[in-house]
Amino acid sequence: KERRSLGYQGDTTLDSLSRWNYHTIGLVPTMGNLHQGHLNLIERARTENSTVIVSIFINPLQFGPNEDYQRYPRTLEQDYQACAQAGVDAIFAPTPEVMGIGQKSREETPVSQVIPPSAMISGLCGHFRPGHFQGVATIVTKLFNLVQPDRAYFGQKDGQQLAIIKRLVVDLNLPVEIIACPTVREPSGLALSSRNQYLTATEKEQATVLFRSLRQAEAAFRAGVRNGSDLIALVRQEIAKVNNVFVEYIELVEPTTLMSLEEIQEEGMIAIAARLGSTRLIDNIILRDV
Ligand code: PAJ
Repeated sequence: KERRSLGYQGDTTLDSLSRWNYHTIGLVPTMGNLHQGHLNLIERARTENSTVIVSIFINPLQFGPNEDYQRYPRTLEQDYQACAQAGVDAIFAPTPEVMGIGQKSREETPVSQVIPPSAMISGLCGHFRPGHFQGVATIVTKLFNLVQPDRAYFGQKDGQQLAIIKRLVVDLNLPVEIIACPTVREPSGLALSSRNQYLTATEKEQATVLFRSLRQAEAAFRAGVRNGSDLIALVRQEIAKVNNVFVEYIELVEPTTLMSLEEIQEEGMIAIAARLGSTRLIDNIILRDV
């Protein structure tokens, strides 16, 4: 009650709220199979809130018919232990029935869904995964309504998802603050992902080209290149050096609106999706003048 009244009285930014004196709930939404990327979100939530809740739910609404819903790694016991070690106060791991969506596919599910602006879901991953971001927006809205967190933590690794959720919260006046956290990588540069475990040892080595190519673009950006086609061409050339990596898209967009950029004025996000064998990987980098 105190928490709510505080929220309504005014400013709830991190600076104005004492992190230690008030009750705040930080939510870290996940699909489980927790790795250091998730744990960083949890650690950040731990430092900023009196209560940390992790949700673990493999959301059928965000998987397409030919995607990896069935084989997505389910490691609940390990995840419980990792959460306990990380000082998580509560885990919310509902069944699809508890979430009110059953086991039906997205198309067959007779529930209301949240539809983000078409300009934000038509490009990048949205183009290759039709309906995916409706599924994400719907489940994240449900999680926010059920848990009622003050803050929710998301990774920059899923740059399109982050932009869409920030927009969702503004558009629907959801009383939660979205905190973006940087991408956690292996020493090789490969972004941590639950899907990395689908990769063979060779594929894992090949996959390091994604971040290497983004770093090439970053170096060019630092040297003054601002043109989107030039930056994208550099990324494409670097990826072409490695066999077996099939690019789905390489795009330069404005990180908040996700509108395509011909040239970087202030800030740009280069986002990539690529396939290695049967595995689909994504990565991105934000380019801005420091
Ligand atoms: P999941 O893939 O489990 O990711 C949960 C959160 O961890 C997301 O915010 C994601 O961006 C973040 N994350 C994953 N890998 C990361 C990394 N290497 N570095 C930093 N953060 C990382 O994203 C989802 O689940 C779902 O779409 C969800 C939001 C839970 C809705 O179902």
